[in-house]
Amino acid sequence: MKIGVLGAGQLGRMLALAGLPLEMQFSFYDTSGAPSVGIGNVFIDQGGTGKDLDSFLADVDIVTSEFEHIPLDLARKIESRKMLLPSSESTRVCQNRGEEKRLFTKLGIPTPKYHLVDSLAAFESAVEQLGCPVVAKTVTDGYDGKGQAVIRDPADVASAWNRIGNTQLIVEKFVNFSRELSIIAVRSKSGQLAFYPLTENTHHEGILRYSVAPAPRISPELDKQAQCYIGELLEALNHVGILTLELFETEQGLLANEMAPRVHNSGHWSIEGANCSQFENHLRAIADLPLGDCQAQQPTCMINIISEKGDIQGLLRLPYAHIHLYGKDERKGRKLGHVTVQADSYKELTWRIRNVAAHLPGSPEYHPTENR
Ligand SMILES: Nc1ncnc2c1ncn2[C@@H]1O[C@H](COP(=O)(O)OP(=O)(O)OP(=O)(O)O)[C@@H](O)[C@H]1O
Ligand SMILES: [Mg+2]
Repeated sequence: MKIGVLGAGQLGRMLALAGLPLEMQFSFYDTSGAPSVGIGNVFIDQGGTGKDLDSFLADVDIVTSEFEHIPLDLARKIESRKMLLPSSESTRVCQNRGEEKRLFTKLGIPTPKYHLVDSLAAFESAVEQLGCPVVAKTVTDGYDGKGQAVIRDPADVASAWNRIGNTQLIVEKFVNFSRELSIIAVRSKSGQLAFYPLTENTHHEGILRYSVAPAPRISPELDKQAQCYIGELLEALNHVGILTLELFETEQGLLANEMAPRVHNSGHWSIEGANCSQFENHLRAIADLPLGDCQAQQPTCMINIISEKGDIQGLLRLPYAHIHLYGKDERKGRKLGHVTVQADSYKELTWRIRNVAAHLPGSPEYHPTENR
């Protein structure tokens, strides 16, 4: 089977690495002008004008996506000519924070309190009603904490409005969560479902740094709750492929933050940590093959390599470290690779995580959540 991927970055690269053993072939459609995928056929169409679309589509049997910020008309055009999975409907909802929150609310999935605003006056009024602190985010195109501002004083609203510079914002009550979790689930074309365990995520300066799976100290009820939420979303969207739901754990239970209709950074641990990785399961789902086992074999952590590659030679000497580099040049805040470690216990895992982080300049210190 020939798989076409919209986007040509590290997620596409890891999809291809997972699909080659299943005799799948890969082509990529890049609109950034800077593909880093380094594998398969790459069609470059800077700015997404539609140039080379015919050649890309002629080269593939089915199309999927590694990112949700594709222009909707492009997604629909592709869908009218080839099977696109997940569909443009999943993309439409997941590329807009307002649509996402509306769907959460419709399905009874709790979220932080929020207002959608499209003027400075509406922004000021939302901040007054919610009360500081709040988080303001662009409704579209945000990632890695970009296009966001935390407002602790109403006097800062105007400068935040000018700085974010978007015409539509979502203003959310700042949540004092005990930790951040995510759940990744997969639904195949014929409706089979499978769930990865809840993952505990640590961010630093808006960027994911550590993902531990399975998240420690999860009750069976909490697990079931998260599966129930994402299961409802999968069905409501008629989604095929991987779907990721980011959650805040609070004293009142889980709150949904956002979702992504694709393989996700907080699931990279599954390459070594599960029998079937999120990448392989995504491909199995869209090709309508039986889904693979999602369980974590033992406590596993994914550590992101951000901005600088650090001491790769030193990392290669650690017998328990699996190193993944994405073929990208160093740049501040850029995801350049990740390292996966596994251990028999969370205590041993913490020690290994810290040894890895010591080779990565700028990595925040790792603290297991029970010690925070
Ligand atoms: N309402 C909130 N209260 C407290 N913290 C928040 C809130 N919303 C977001 N954050 C923090 O900011 C981070 C990034 O926010 P969010 O996930 O909404 O945006 P993003 O830019 O799409 O991120 P990413 O691309 O990493 O998923 C969250 O992981 C969380 O740490
Ligand atoms: Mg997020």
